[in-house]
Amino acid sequence: MSLVKLSLFLLFCVCCEAQLRKEAFMTVPNLIRAAGYPIEKHRVTTQDGYVLQMHRIPAGRRSARRTGDPGAKGKKAILIVHGLIGSSGDFVIMGPERSLAYLLADYGYDVWLGNLRGTVYSTHRNLTRSDPKFWEFSFHEHGKHDLPTMVDGVLNVTGLPKVMFVGYSMGTTSFFTMMALKPEYNDKVISFVALAPAVFMDNIRPLATLFMNLDFANIMRSQGTLSLDPQVLQRLIAALCNPRQPEYDLCTNVLFTLVGEDYEQNDVEMMPIYMHRIQPAAWRQLEHFAKIAITGVFQTWSGGLAIPGKPYNLTNVKVPVSLLYGENDQLTDKIQIMRLADQLKSTGTLEDVRPGCSWPKFNHLDFVFAKDVGTLFNKPLIKHIDTLYNKYGPE
Ligand SMILES: *[C@@H]1O[C@H](CO)[C@@H](O)[C@H](O)[C@H]1NC(C)=O
Ligand SMILES: *[C@@H]1O[C@H](CO)[C@@H](O)[C@H](O)[C@H]1NC(C)=O
Ligand SMILES: *[C@@H]1O[C@H](CO)[C@@H](O)[C@H](O)[C@H]1NC(C)=O
Repeated sequence: MSLVKLSLFLLFCVCCEAQLRKEAFMTVPNLIRAAGYPIEKHRVTTQDGYVLQMHRIPAGRRSARRTGDPGAKGKKAILIVHGLIGSSGDFVIMGPERSLAYLLADYGYDVWLGNLRGTVYSTHRNLTRSDPKFWEFSFHEHGKHDLPTMVDGVLNVTGLPKVMFVGYSMGTTSFFTMMALKPEYNDKVISFVALAPAVFMDNIRPLATLFMNLDFANIMRSQGTLSLDPQVLQRLIAALCNPRQPEYDLCTNVLFTLVGEDYEQNDVEMMPIYMHRIQPAAWRQLEHFAKIAITGVFQTWSGGLAIPGKPYNLTNVKVPVSLLYGENDQLTDKIQIMRLADQLKSTGTLEDVRPGCSWPKFNHLDFVFAKDVGTLFNKPLIKHIDTLYNKYGPE
């Protein structure tokens, strides 16, 4: 290779890395703006004082260019809520033609991305993030406060009576919790599409038991570590992992044990970008999931694993629900999702339960991060959403 070629190649590499870094550190609104979509930020405040920033994409890329007016009057509104250690960024991170939010906006939807308490897009009126009280929450509070407030926020701004709702992983746990605690919200939702629903989790009982037996959360709390800190996680990953060679990488292998192995759909180029976008988790979130997994009952935390909680009443869910699972998802596995399906069927609200896509290795993360998530999953998903909208939406 000539010296010129070599230096051009090196320059190219440096630019690539710089590009990755830039994307990794961009806020979600800046990422959306850079992709050429209109973006609005809306702040909503929960009854218990958390201020949540919602990200709205009111129009598609082409229509925004053509009219210069990102108006969303008369459009179908849809609210999408992320999972544990995720944020609104999960639905734009793969870029146009791949990520759900962009595809929906291009398809004509008025897209609202939620951010739950704990993400970098949340603050509290009275508490700082270094106050232990800030971190006293699990999906119980997401369901009781965050989701109802975000639903009301969408309805307030759009003037619509109802919104379509999509949840991913813990976003679904939070949805079922909301309906159990506040069934009046059935009247504000058209239909619910649950991606990798996490309600029964008996399959992770061994891991949950280990986590609780080690008393991990309490040890961390007693040392002043208030949350699962993404920076610590990132440092650990940087020291131990080599995601560019996933087949030989310890971390990828550990991760795949948890979420299901799928080397083919693992986008190596995107790894450094996700790493920087990981959101903090409250210990209580993990403890509450552990309680569900260990007891096999979808119930409240109520102060501890050993304390009997109050079961969340799934009979209160009245809107049509679709459950989409990954054939190779080891975290929210099919058997547990079928158990949820049986309950919803018995109360007459189960619309559909089926694999999210035909790819047999589709795992827990593929719902948002698969290399071909646009064609494999999101485009068929939008057809499904549109069918539901036409069936149950306003005339
Ligand atoms: C925040 O502080 C104000 C004044 O100190 C108090 O009135 C209010 O109830 C507090 N709000 C919350 C959510 O704690
Ligand atoms: C919605 O609007 C009502 C009336 O203007 C207001 O009281 C309420 O706080 C708003 N809710 C949200 C979540 O924005
Ligand atoms: C659950 O909710 C339904 C109504 O949606 C009610 O009939 C039933 O009694 C409730 N079950 C419990 C255990 O509270």
